[in-house]
Parts: sequence; structure tokens; C-alpha cells
Amino acid sequence: MTIDNEPLTETAKDALLAAAREAQLSAYAPYSNFAVGAAVLLSDGSIYKGCNIENASFGLTVCAERVAIFHAVTAGRMDIVAVGVVTSAPKLCKPCGACRQVIAEFSRADSPIVIISTTESGLSATDTITDLLPDNFTLL
Ligand code: THU
Repeated sequence: MTIDNEPLTETAKDALLAAAREAQLSAYAPYSNFAVGAAVLLSDGSIYKGCNIENASFGLTVCAERVAIFHAVTAGRMDIVAVGVVTSAPKLCKPCGACRQVIAEFSRADSPIVIISTTESGLSATDTITDLLPDNFTLL
């Protein structure tokens, strides 16, 4: 299956968000009690998951989105098509600035990574990384 440059199918979207919800269960968030789950969808349909991992030294906390992306990159995969995120907040929470910059690193101008932000209660928004972080910092 190749899903590059094609709108996400409902099936792919459902699988991505189900993986994000599963990852949320593994969140290590004893300080904020704010569990976040994320998942990245790759161009062949495979999915990598991540959860937020906090630390007593608060600044060392890593967000769920970055954990999911680092998980995929560690497996040798950078062909990220979409990122799904779920929180338990009553309002929609979109990825933080640091995560947006990391997502942008793996996005291509001709098919920007799609970000689906959701809540457990059923709110959902779909953006591209260019919507969320226009004119991002680049060196290459
Ligand atoms: N967090 C994420 O996992 N993703 C974001 O985009 C923003 C915030 C986490 C970090 C911390 O563990 C908790 O949410 C509260 O900020």
C-alpha cells in the first residue's frame, strides 16, 4: 500500500487514532497527570506509537509525538505521512512548538505531513504541518 500524496482513507485514519489511543495507555505522566498518545503513519501503512514520558527533572520530559517519530526513525523509517494525537483534555490540544519543528524535519514540500489531533470525547481537527508551523527553521 502506498498512501503518499493521497488523501488519508478512513481506514488508515481509524488505525492511526486507535494506535494513538493504545499508546496513551502507556503514558508516564505522574507529574502532570496529562496522558498523551501519538502514532505516526508511514507510506506503506505501518504505524509507530509513542506516549509522553515525564521526568522528576521536568525539562527532560519528552512529548508523545516526538517519541512516536523517534521510534519510527530508529526503525529506519522517515517516510511519515500522518501523525495522530490523542489527549483526555476537554478541548483539542495540537502538538507543541518543539514537536511541530520535529514533525517539519520529516515533512516534504510536495506532500506535507498531516496531523490529526483528537480528544477522548470525540473532538477532532486535521491540519498539515505547514498550517501549524509555516516557514519552519531549516538548514538543509
Ligand atoms: N505533551 C505532549 O505529549 N505533547 C504535546 O504536544 C504537548 C504536551 C505532554 C508533555 C507533558 O508530559 C504533558 O503533556 C503536559 O505538558
